[in-house]
Amino acid sequence: MTQFTEQLPVQSEVAPDMVVAERVMKQFGSNTVLKNISLTVKRGEVMCLVGPSGSGKSTFLRLINHLEKLNAGRLLVDGEFVGYRERDGKLYEQKPRDAAVQRREIGMVFQRFNLFPHMTALENIIEAPIRVKNQPRKEAIARAKVLLERVGLAEKAKAYPGHLSGGQQQRVAIARALAMDPKLMLFDEPTSALDPELVGEVLDVMKALAKSGMTMIVVTHEMGFAREVADSLVFMDGGVVVETGDPREVLANPQHERTQAFLSKVL
Ligand SMILES: Nc1ncnc2c1ncn2[C@@H]1O[C@H](COP(=O)(O)OP(=O)(O)OP(=O)(O)O)[C@@H](O)[C@H]1O
Ligand SMILES: [Mg+2]
Repeated sequence: MTQFTEQLPVQSEVAPDMVVAERVMKQFGSNTVLKNISLTVKRGEVMCLVGPSGSGKSTFLRLINHLEKLNAGRLLVDGEFVGYRERDGKLYEQKPRDAAVQRREIGMVFQRFNLFPHMTALENIIEAPIRVKNQPRKEAIARAKVLLERVGLAEKAKAYPGHLSGGQQQRVAIARALAMDPKLMLFDEPTSALDPELVGEVLDVMKALAKSGMTMIVVTHEMGFAREVADSLVFMDGGVVVETGDPREVLANPQHERTQAFLSKVL
């Protein structure tokens, strides 16, 4: 017994923060897109990420989700290095299979819904659980129905994306991501391609998801959502975190000129 507890690493006693970025740097050629990003998202927290076009918001999400590789710094999701494994204090590139396992625990929702057009809403949702997780078809269908209900689309199971509104398609996309039982959800401007009257229904689903305890990073210009739902707001510009804090405080009283200038445009 004593020996067993002694062998456990210290961190295992306390669940690690969900996302930890330390001095993360990302370059495309000579263009340094992320300069020195350090931030933490705790379990169950919602972080809103805002900033002007080109500031590196999508790149940061793509690093978390293994769609890009960082050039320097450390990035951990749920206590594990993204894309690397550590042995004897050294980092080694992860095998593609291990990367795939890590990636499937992270759900991503994009501005464009990227649903498969030739599949119904339900088929879109069951595809990955069956193909990637080998979930039995019956089980996947039952779960997809629950998820469709949760996003308010129980009656649209058999509808094809082309017959759904943008807001409905985005809600299917959220259900599809949730079908993989992610521990972290990343949203990259999930409402910015929607007609204004459809934004609310998607934000409502995201609010409910946040209330359920999901850890979320949301790139958005919906400051009402940030104010109401987020635990922290991060303002990025030119590849650095300019300002971060409680969204209500940052929005009411931004400390930096660049934050003020940006917020005056989106509020
Ligand atoms: N695959 C890539 N190859 C080269 N440059 C890239 C690549 N992806 C992004 N960039 C560059 O990185 C910078 C940051 O882009 P990113 O898409 O992360 O910004 P963003 O903050 O999400 O902007 P937006 O609000 O317009 O979505 C931009 O200058 C972009 O041109
Ligand atoms: Mg972007």
